[in-house]
Amino acid sequence: MGYEVVLPAAGSGKRMGAGKNKLFLPLANKPILIHTLEVFEKDPKCTGIYLAVKPEEREYIQNLLNEYGITKVKGLPNGGEERQHSVHACLKVMKDVEIVLVHDAARPFILQSVIDRLVETAYEKGAAIAGVRAKDTMKKVRDGIIVETVERDDLWAIQTPQAFRFELLLHAEDVAEKVGFLGTDEAMLVERLGYEIHIVESSYENIKITTKEDLVFGEAILRNRQL
Ligand code: CTP
Ligand code: MG
Repeated sequence: MGYEVVLPAAGSGKRMGAGKNKLFLPLANKPILIHTLEVFEKDPKCTGIYLAVKPEEREYIQNLLNEYGITKVKGLPNGGEERQHSVHACLKVMKDVEIVLVHDAARPFILQSVIDRLVETAYEKGAAIAGVRAKDTMKKVRDGIIVETVERDDLWAIQTPQAFRFELLLHAEDVAEKVGFLGTDEAMLVERLGYEIHIVESSYENIKITTKEDLVFGEAILRNRQL
């Protein structure tokens, strides 16, 4: 039950405000990008990694791959304007893949057990994404005024990885491109075609490193794992 993974890594990290791609920032002295890559490098079921990159960062990333002994990368296509375009660019160069996982390069703390369940569910059902139950009371607000309190039991915060039969995701991405639909995750593209998507309960540790505070949380997560 193997799979290949797409890691969009062609963002600019504006919200981090580091003046460079946040994926190159260190957590415990190792670039965030490498932490994420090592998860898939170590998983025997992962048979290939595709990284969407900015053309001007390709050489730097290739050097990092060599330095840290990452051997499974099969392609580094140019990313696009939006994350969705970067993912699509990877899918377009992949061949003979049955199950594909899409995972934000900025989520280095994904657990192997969650990957295992996602892959299993995608094989059985076609589509499965990682998420966690909402912890806070959730309200819908418009113009600063509460419209309604949404039933929390129905609400999940969605993460990556998102796992699909390869042909299904490629089709959904092609359709979205054709009609000019832009989603914030892969599942949105598949949902709008009417497919059922399963949720795999993930961990609250699987944060996306987005703003400066996340670097502090990230260091704490790593420290906690070493205890
Ligand atoms: N990404 C990408 N191509 C883009 C935009 C984002 O490959 N055009 C990648 C990022 O590198 C990241 C993941 O998608 O690994 C999730 O995106 P996000 O956390 O939003 O990262 P950035 O877009 O880099 O950050 P920001 O939105 O703050 O600029
Ligand atoms: Mg972004």
